[in-house]
Amino acid sequence: WKKQRHFRLLEDAMTIWYKSRWPGKGHSTFSISDVEAVREGHQSEVLQSTAEEFPAELCFTLVFHGRQGNLDLVAKTPEEAQTMDEKERQDQWVRDWFLKADKNKDGKMNFKEVQTLLKMMNVEMNEDHALHLFTSKELQSDIFLISFCPFYKMLTQRDEVRKVFKDYSGDGENLLLEELETFLSVEQHEGGQSYQLAKMLIDRYEPSESGKHDGFQSYLCSQEGSIFKPKHLDLHQDMSQPLSHYFISSSHNTYLLEDQILGQSSLEAYIKALKRGCRCVEVDCWDGSDGEPIVYHGHTWTSRILFRDVISTLKEYAFKASDFPVILSIENHCGVEQQTVMAQHLSKILGDTLLTTLLDGQVPQQLPSPQELKGKILLKAKKLNNPEDCLDGTQTDEVSDEEAEDAESPISLLINFTFYLPILQKSKLSKELSDLVVYCKSVHFRDFEHARSNAKCYEISSFSEKKAKALAKDEGTDFVRYNTRQLSRIYPNGLSGAISSNYNPQEMWNVGCQIVALNFQTAGLEMDLNDGLFRQNGCCGYVLKPDFMRDSNTQFSPDKPEERQGYKPLRLSIQVISGQQLPKVNQKEGSIVDPLVRVQIFGVPGDQRVKETPYINNNGFNPVWNKTLHFVIHTPELALVRFEVEDHDRASRNDFIGQFTLPFTCIQAGYRHIHLLSKDGIAIPPASLFVNISISALT
Ligand SMILES: *[C@@H]1O[C@H](CO)[C@@H](O)[C@H](O)[C@H]1NC(C)=O
Ligand SMILES: *[C@@H]1O[C@H](CO)[C@@H](O)[C@H](O)[C@H]1NC(C)=O
Ligand SMILES: *[C@@H]1O[C@H](CO)[C@@H](O)[C@H](O)[C@H]1NC(C)=O
Repeated sequence: WKKQRHFRLLEDAMTIWYKSRWPGKGHSTFSISDVEAVREGHQSEVLQSTAEEFPAELCFTLVFHGRQGNLDLVAKTPEEAQTMDEKERQDQWVRDWFLKADKNKDGKMNFKEVQTLLKMMNVEMNEDHALHLFTSKELQSDIFLISFCPFYKMLTQRDEVRKVFKDYSGDGENLLLEELETFLSVEQHEGGQSYQLAKMLIDRYEPSESGKHDGFQSYLCSQEGSIFKPKHLDLHQDMSQPLSHYFISSSHNTYLLEDQILGQSSLEAYIKALKRGCRCVEVDCWDGSDGEPIVYHGHTWTSRILFRDVISTLKEYAFKASDFPVILSIENHCGVEQQTVMAQHLSKILGDTLLTTLLDGQVPQQLPSPQELKGKILLKAKKLNNPEDCLDGTQTDEVSDEEAEDAESPISLLINFTFYLPILQKSKLSKELSDLVVYCKSVHFRDFEHARSNAKCYEISSFSEKKAKALAKDEGTDFVRYNTRQLSRIYPNGLSGAISSNYNPQEMWNVGCQIVALNFQTAGLEMDLNDGLFRQNGCCGYVLKPDFMRDSNTQFSPDKPEERQGYKPLRLSIQVISGQQLPKVNQKEGSIVDPLVRVQIFGVPGDQRVKETPYINNNGFNPVWNKTLHFVIHTPELALVRFEVEDHDRASRNDFIGQFTLPFTCIQAGYRHIHLLSKDGIAIPPASLFVNISISALT
């Protein structure tokens, strides 16, 4: 039999209600969750039997879970049938998620729940933006599923992703396991593991049979689809080599939260740096008035904190972000008495955590490894003797002031501090403090020649940024060799330090310097590079240098990368396809960003390049650039790639929108998303770039 029926979706967005046309027969309902599938055309016995009467484009069948019989329906027009069908299918994927999130099954969700749901679905959304869309739909606090689906689609429609999907989907609607596998091996370069990966991705990103395309997009936006090789995010490097073979995440003037002249010294600054994976922190110690040494930036108006409190903070936070050793670099301006107080605090507060003896009691030929030093704090300071000497000498000794040039000069350029400048005197060293120094004995650097024949592996020198640059330029290979065996610490030039500005750490990494100390409190390009380098290897604060920087006879010079053994330049092509939900930078009403993408390569001097896309007018939500940028990279092992999005400004400097920086060696080729970070290195979740990357040998 055939009857005319009117079906209506109720406001709970889950119940289909239908009424018989016959008077007095009442109505019936069924739930959408009972529907297993929607089949188009003549796909049931009943519809096949009436095939002549009703053309296929009008027909569809609802298949129910369990025992309930099918419901065969015929629409009035092909359009009507198609609308229903298309919508049902596309919405199903969202509905499945909705059901997961709607715990009490009332078909309602408040804004907070929707946010949670979007997170579950791997849809990250800017809060302001979402709230704006919600409130503009006259839904106030609750949204119903019926408005959720279009909303979701509006938010996430991605034509450029759909295009890629269609290239690999046989029918343009579904991506079969084999098709996904082909995509993974051809475009994503996933090699031998593409079958396993395809299975895993389908399990993870497709909770239901429907909405394959949404699952595909979810994968591309996920960690597996990100530009960063997932396995490089984990701790994966050999941690058993000498300390000198690693780049070490290091902070300068750690105690400062802001400006170096007027800024605040704060324990919070230590906590922040340590939580960020920093493995070398600094204290500037001065005599306090009541016998307690204090920490602040000498001769300036920064506030003061107690040395004792810094050490307690260090004890508590040193190993929260990483197990690997922390180097405490002490800049000592105290008299002998308070130095002894410092030594007492260090021993008492840090206890076993402080390394005070040689690991194996032998004269060290090379520095111990991060692995061997796990959970230890090492003191870097001046020392009266050598760690292997058994000294039963005097309580104090004089250290010649040859290190004066290494010590950072207090800032006296902007303000007249003549009155406070210290009387130059021979510094005296407390034996107690000296005895706590083992593997990081501060010494003055003379020259590479002298170091080659006299230096011990546990001796460490500090270089100003200016001095290090000069050495890198004139004696690059010597510097690299020196750094295979000994640690070197670089600090910002005094003058620029006045405003806590940073220098480019890449130039120092290029010659193998390990402790390249940056002002962590100062956001910007330099910290982006630091965060970018140390994001790999489990954010543990240690990154193994490339092999040609660990060989003491290396021929490597950053200025002539082609002269080293194993030189293999690569070609990097980046097709910048599109951007997603870029944040608004200019809060002026009505202003919309005109975004452009700048790609910068940092590395050996010959690799430094900047290229950019044109800007797109008035579109921060889904701009499409589709612009390919080409680079040649001579020393991929040292290169960092920075993606920066800016708001084009005709009249003044462009505004920063977001960035992401990563080591070249951590890049995954293929179609990838880049999840952008704010100026402060914080994730700004909805904002991303979609790129297509290819890497090939230079022929
Ligand atoms: C700096 O201050 C000292 C002491 O107050 C004063 O004698 C000196 O003249 C000042 N120098 C300048 C350049 O103002
Ligand atoms: C992007 O560029 C490629 C090749 O340059 C072209 O084939 C493709 O159609 C472009 N896509 C868009 C959306 O403009
Ligand atoms: C992405 O890059 C690959 C390899 O270079 C290329 O074959 C493909 O056409 C690119 N995709 C688009 C949309 O241009």
